[in-house]
Amino acid sequence: MAQGRKSIHGQWSSRWVFILAATGSAVGLGNIWRFPYVTGENGGGAFVLVYLLCVAVIGVPIMMAEVMLGRRGRQSPINTMRTLAEEEGRSRAWQYLGWMGVLAGFAILSFYSVVAGWTLAYVFRIGAGIFDGVSAEAVSGAFDAFTGDPERLLAWHTIFMAMSTVVVSRGVKSGLEKAVRFLMPALFLLLLVMVGYALGQGAFSQGVEYLFKPDFSELTASAVLEAMGQAFFSLSLGMGAIMIYGSYLSEHASIGRTTVMIAAMDTLVAVLAGLAIFPIVFAYGLAPQGGPGLIFKILPIAFAGMPGGAFFGVLFFLLLVFAGWTSAISLLEPIVAWLVENHGMNRVKASALAGILAWLLGIASLLSLSVWSEYTLFDKNFFSLVEFLTADIMLPLGGVLIGVFAGWQMSRQSTVDELGLGDGVLYRGWRFLVRYVTPVAITLVLLNKMFDLF
Ligand code: PHE
Repeated sequence: MAQGRKSIHGQWSSRWVFILAATGSAVGLGNIWRFPYVTGENGGGAFVLVYLLCVAVIGVPIMMAEVMLGRRGRQSPINTMRTLAEEEGRSRAWQYLGWMGVLAGFAILSFYSVVAGWTLAYVFRIGAGIFDGVSAEAVSGAFDAFTGDPERLLAWHTIFMAMSTVVVSRGVKSGLEKAVRFLMPALFLLLLVMVGYALGQGAFSQGVEYLFKPDFSELTASAVLEAMGQAFFSLSLGMGAIMIYGSYLSEHASIGRTTVMIAAMDTLVAVLAGLAIFPIVFAYGLAPQGGPGLIFKILPIAFAGMPGGAFFGVLFFLLLVFAGWTSAISLLEPIVAWLVENHGMNRVKASALAGILAWLLGIASLLSLSVWSEYTLFDKNFFSLVEFLTADIMLPLGGVLIGVFAGWQMSRQSTVDELGLGDGVLYRGWRFLVRYVTPVAITLVLLNKMFDLF
């Protein structure tokens, strides 16, 4: 066990609360906004298959490692990594893994808040009925006009970042526990309603086929990398969010079962989102490659067409805001915990500081959708570049290193004690995956993409 160490930031009241909070972190825009759009850009079935494989073979073992490190170190990822490295007699340089996570957290939060802002705006746009009786083309056009207006984007981005900062400043427990308890199940139910609607749209089987029938000719090096990146992004892995949540977990909870549950729920939500969206894409003869705007171009059509659509539409986007909110909080928490630990700041100041920095970076992202759109690198605007560098590069890299630390740098005994899987086949399976399978797989995918690039 964690040698009786306690976190100065508090502890979850039960294992169940940890599951809710970690699921709240995992389930977010990544599942409902990002999964369908990257699936659409990478050709469907084969991409989904690689994604599912990555969740099972890489995601679950790395998540176990991350929770384990957090619970043993009981501090922000930077300090946890430093403490554990010292304890195991390893290099202090491991703390830079925590630093990379902090950086990735900032960068992800910056564009995440912009997209959450779109979601917030769509609550009102659907509520006002602006899509009623409008053609599919006009719905797409409305989205492009909206993201082409930096002032409006800035307003929504600011509101969302303020919302996230306020919750983190109040401590993870009081704000977050309440939010996830009701909102996550509600979102899940509403997704089922959406899938039910999609079922009646005539193109359901085409949507299912697109999602689950692999066409391996579509599987490029980029697609494989993006599938892996999406697995990390969706499970909140590789940057310390799950590590810090693990640091608030009681030492009696079983890490293995808990992790499998979280990963399964996260994956189910993503698949449901795909089932809700692609049948409508095909029913209206639209292209799956709608880019980051995909759900904002598709879902309003569905809501305009269904009975009670305004009600369901408002509710859906509202729940999506909450799902994004509980994820954004986990992006801020590692940074805020570190500022509190190392700089003696109080939570309110630390949250405000971190929030403002991420907000500033987010402004560059939202400008890159309009006035700065001509500045590109590798054919990507700033928004897509940050998204690519964090989700597809930094998170998998962070993940490899977490696995290497857990598998190669910690003593076998420490991990046996901390994981609580016993010393049988389950433990050995985990150790084999983090020691050999995940580092080799992630390195190969990254190298493969690099040689494609240059
Ligand atoms: N997992 C979150 C989502 O799917 C995003 C996230 C990524 C949160 C990384 C924390 C860390 O929306």
